[in-house]
Amino acid sequence: MYPSSNCRYIDRMNSKPQQGQQRSCRPEELSNLFPTVILRRHMKDAKSRNKRIRKIVLEREKSDPGVQQSNVGGWHSTADLWDWPNPEIRDLCKWVLRSGEDLTASMFPLQPGDEVKAEPYGGAWANVLREGGYNKVHNHPGAVWSAVYYVASGDPYPDQPGNGNFEFMDPRPGNLHGGKEIIRPEPGLLMIFPAWLNHYVNAYHGDGERISIAWNMTVEIVR
Ligand SMILES: [Fe+2]
Repeated sequence: MYPSSNCRYIDRMNSKPQQGQQRSCRPEELSNLFPTVILRRHMKDAKSRNKRIRKIVLEREKSDPGVQQSNVGGWHSTADLWDWPNPEIRDLCKWVLRSGEDLTASMFPLQPGDEVKAEPYGGAWANVLREGGYNKVHNHPGAVWSAVYYVASGDPYPDQPGNGNFEFMDPRPGNLHGGKEIIRPEPGLLMIFPAWLNHYVNAYHGDGERISIAWNMTVEIVR
């Protein structure tokens, strides 16, 4: 049992603000710990570019047996996409690096004379998912940023909840019922996120191919 003086104190603490009374903290009292940032950006002319990129990826699949990583089913190309010679792929890689630099500059605002430089780290590859394929929970150790770009979303059956969605997991281990950020694949969408952030892809059920490209990169601010 609390002494009555404490009860009065609690009552005062819980009292509703009076009209016009400010209820906020001063900026210097607050810390925003461990933020998780995700960049979402859309490619211009995505339709025509993706048509060509789709063709390149599917052609490559014919001669590359692929590798087994987080994917269950589907095709995961060898991780040499940074070096693919196709102009469409080279343009895409440059745009992804530039976007990684923009994201870095937003997180760590540049001072006059600073230069931000993103570079390949740990490979890049194409993913093709077909009926039943998915990706297990994983992250991309060692890189600073990871990126995913959607070339084709396939033709998913509408009656399957969460069909083929990309999902980020809440990174806070103590938040046992933490939420997730659900991304519905959309051709032309680029996402860049911290490489340590766990994610997975639900099983894709549908016709055609769901095609994405993934990159890992590192960044440096030169001052
Ligand atoms: Fe991944």
